[in-house]
Amino acid sequence: MRIALAPMEGLVDDVMRDVLTRMGGVDWCVTEFVRVTETLLPPKYYHRLAPELLNGAVTAVGTPVRLQLLGSDPTCLAENAARAAELGAPVIDLNFGCPAKCVNRHRGGAVLLTEPDLLHAIVSTVRAAVPSKIPVTAKMRLGYEDKSLAIECAQALAMGGAAELVVHARTKVEGYQPPAYWHWIALIKAAVACPVVANGEIWTVEDYLACRAESGCDDVMLGRGLVARPDLARQIKQHLAGQPVAPMHWHELVPVLQRFVGQVAGKVEGKHAPGRLKQWLSMLRQHYPEAGWLFERIRAVKAVPDIQAILAGLQVDEPLVC
Ligand SMILES: Cc1cc2nc3c(=O)[nH]c(=O)nc-3n(C[C@H](O)[C@H](O)[C@H](O)COP(=O)(O)O)c2cc1C
Repeated sequence: MRIALAPMEGLVDDVMRDVLTRMGGVDWCVTEFVRVTETLLPPKYYHRLAPELLNGAVTAVGTPVRLQLLGSDPTCLAENAARAAELGAPVIDLNFGCPAKCVNRHRGGAVLLTEPDLLHAIVSTVRAAVPSKIPVTAKMRLGYEDKSLAIECAQALAMGGAAELVVHARTKVEGYQPPAYWHWIALIKAAVACPVVANGEIWTVEDYLACRAESGCDDVMLGRGLVARPDLARQIKQHLAGQPVAPMHWHELVPVLQRFVGQVAGKVEGKHAPGRLKQWLSMLRQHYPEAGWLFERIRAVKAVPDIQAILAGLQVDEPLVC
């Protein structure tokens, strides 16, 4: 079975992909979406969102990075897909799930799930524009306002030439609120010939097993669950291999946080780096109370060296007390 790290704009960039794939268990990642409107984007735009393209399109530990496009114009998407392929993207993924108002207003993301014919046209035009050795995949939700077109949309994508479908088991209006309707993935899987990957609301090994049972999919894509529990993919694979599941301890995570801060500081303007750590800690605190304590401790800290000093000084084998 395979596990993918979900694309997450503003959260999973090349640094987070690097950090999370080092944990093990992740078979591929997907970039944040590249928004295509009416121009052929310059290579530097692709390299900014997917620096891995300069390094064989893999993360430092060799995990492939697929490139995601978002748009509604088949021809323009096709031209950009061809460019991404030239730049080394191993797979082109198409986004039909983004719920953002500003994206949907411009006829992009989940709103396209109301137009199965357009979905078909997009996938088939993109498919025709990239070399046959490069798969074109699609990521969809179950619909926009309701699920009435879920099967039709999935079939349109598959018939258009999608090599694989990732299904986020919620509509646009259901946003990110639990539950995810995993049984709908089983209906889609039965209706299309291509492989289907289940996505949505997998936070634990038990969730994976429940999702697998309901969706009939062995393959899953993990989003927030993997950011909040960085070794979740590894835990799932350990469980499936019959090995004892050894969840990562806080003290093992501290050097990971140090590496993360160092890499973020090398990438973004200094004043933005602490925010990225706080963003991650606010998710990690679900499983690691220490992350909550650390969050409080660095809340007002603005300089990267000060944060690095706090991280370096952590008494990692003792609970943090603020
Ligand atoms: C902050 C954030 C940003 C996201 N950005 C993207 C994106 O760029 N492309 C995409 O296809 N999905 C995006 N998603 C959706 C996720 O890939 C995933 O489908 C969703 O979070 C459900 O999975 P989860 O419950 O495991 O998090 C985003 C989700 C979040 C929370």
